[in-house]
Amino acid sequence: MKIVLFGTGAIGSAVKDVLVEHGHAVVSIGRTSGDRQADMTDIASLTALFRDLGTFHAVASAAGEVSGAPLEKATDEQWAKSIAGKGMGQINLVRAALPYIADGGSFTLVSGVLTEEPIPGGSLGRTINNMVEGFVKGAATEMPRGCRINCISPTVLAESTHYLPYFVGYTPVPAREVALAYLRAIANPLNGRILKLHKTDS
Ligand SMILES: NC(=O)c1ccc[n+]([C@@H]2O[C@H](COP(=O)([O-])OP(=O)(O)OC[C@H]3O[C@@H](n4cnc5c(N)ncnc54)[C@H](OP(=O)(O)O)[C@@H]3O)[C@@H](O)[C@H]2O)c1
Repeated sequence: MKIVLFGTGAIGSAVKDVLVEHGHAVVSIGRTSGDRQADMTDIASLTALFRDLGTFHAVASAAGEVSGAPLEKATDEQWAKSIAGKGMGQINLVRAALPYIADGGSFTLVSGVLTEEPIPGGSLGRTINNMVEGFVKGAATEMPRGCRINCISPTVLAESTHYLPYFVGYTPVPAREVALAYLRAIANPLNGRILKLHKTDS
């Protein structure tokens, strides 16, 4: 399968490794990194990318910026950037790619544990993650041509050491486990699912 993967960071690089190990061709995308460049907040740049890529069978997102800030201190700019980045950015991916993705193709977006679990200053993240998951559940019922859409919801990654101090008492997940969830969503007939790697059961 030819898979277009947004994000080359902690999650994106692990997803790329797992997909390549399983025989897939991955085109990685970032604003400045990756094989090709596009900005999720700019739908014209996404349309230009997808129009130019030729046939592709899946789009996966391991990208999208969101701020952490206490509710009473979060600025207009932090809210707007988070909504435009991780929220509308991922919705834009789907809207821009739909006219070009192969029949039966799949979309895999990313949310996170904050959808359900609190940390101090996490209400921005919770709001945006719910926006993404709400979109996935709604869009799954309207996917044309046998296409599918799912979402990966990881807890904090063991490799993301800069985030660990904000997730006190949370059990981190290895990037490879998260990457395998992307593979599961892409390779199997799942639709409208949120694949959780929360590690909050104990
Ligand atoms: N790491 C965690 O512990 C964790 C846990 C749960 C959920 N998540 C979510 O997973 C996603 C990825 O996290 P990460 O830690 O892997 O991120 P990361 O290491 O900071 O990497 C982010 C990647 O996204 C790309 N990117 C960011 N904004 C973009 C845009 N507007 N257009 C195109 N590409 C863009 C960046 O490339 P350029 O710099 O080249 O643009 C970069 O490759 C985020 O949405 C995050 O909220 C992360």
